[in-house]
Amino acid sequence: MPSPIDTLTLTRPDDWHLHVRDGEALTTVVPHTAAQFGRAVIMPNLKPPVTTAAQALAYRDRIAAAVPPGIAFEPLMTLYLTDNLPADEIARAKDAGVVALKLYPAGATTNSDAGVTDLRKTYRTLEAMQRAGLLLLVHGEVTSPDIDLFDREAVFIDQQLIPLRRDFPELKIVFEHITTREAAQYVQSAGPFTAATITAHHLLYNRNAIFLGGVRPHFYCLPVLKRELHRQALVDAATSGSPQFFLGTDSAPHPAHLKEHASGCAGCYTAHAAMELYAQAFDAAGALDKLEGFASFFGADFYGLPRNSGRITLRRETWMPPASFAFGAAELKPLASGEALQWRLQT
Ligand code: NCD
Ligand code: ZN
Repeated sequence: MPSPIDTLTLTRPDDWHLHVRDGEALTTVVPHTAAQFGRAVIMPNLKPPVTTAAQALAYRDRIAAAVPPGIAFEPLMTLYLTDNLPADEIARAKDAGVVALKLYPAGATTNSDAGVTDLRKTYRTLEAMQRAGLLLLVHGEVTSPDIDLFDREAVFIDQQLIPLRRDFPELKIVFEHITTREAAQYVQSAGPFTAATITAHHLLYNRNAIFLGGVRPHFYCLPVLKRELHRQALVDAATSGSPQFFLGTDSAPHPAHLKEHASGCAGCYTAHAAMELYAQAFDAAGALDKLEGFASFFGADFYGLPRNSGRITLRRETWMPPASFAFGAAELKPLASGEALQWRLQT
């Protein structure tokens, strides 16, 4: 038997889907991401949402101020698409270096009240994006209460994504944090202008994790974890070597007391050990050789940005991340806190 790989050196990866919040929270979560990734696409679902180029620039400065000295980390900014985001904001966004707009169907997830109620209302803005080369990042779930929570992603493909793809054939679309076999199959068949991000937690866990020994709110996110066959389809897609699938943690910090709550917030915090978690998932699939493309190349290529030049090294080592972090005046509990990890980033 060949001896297992125990050191992995990769081109510095990027996180193509990240929530960092604002204010004091930045000083906890931004250093975690900056220690691992060269760049991260920053989600705009603040309260109120980031809807103008000027707001995105000011937010970028607040994030940059939380990067520890001596570390090169670039936040890539996005705007939050609403029913009435004017088409002429797209040129300002492009000039400001904004890379994408995020589509949240109204009511789909955390801070999505301002989201889109009907995609047709956004068509002039989407046309401007297609012309300017800005990407559309999609939270792909329908919100109708009569659709089962576990089916919302698959229904979204038929009801929204297929018509959208047809109407904007050259708009670059990222189907964010896909969770189902249907989504993986759709992306594979949708041509070169469509890609998807996959989180570490959807590669590592199925929906049993939410209920193991009692309700475990730190495993609750949206789109919710699905059954094992879907997890396996995501592992197959992520490790396939297809450039249409790349890394997006969807690390989404919430104060622990709002997750351990009668109506707990959706979102898993993984930024403290993101690459360790992905390495564990790829290792379990016998596909460590596919991690670099997924984590460091395909996202940059799809966004039309240069690949990073630096490197990181992960070592096989059993270690225990902290059970919690300070989060302003509250506490932040990471995913699977109290469980040992098998890989460790070398600093
Ligand atoms: C995200 C958040 O908390 O902002 N939550 C989540 O469960 N992923 C929002 C989102 O990406 O859906
Ligand atoms: Zn997200």
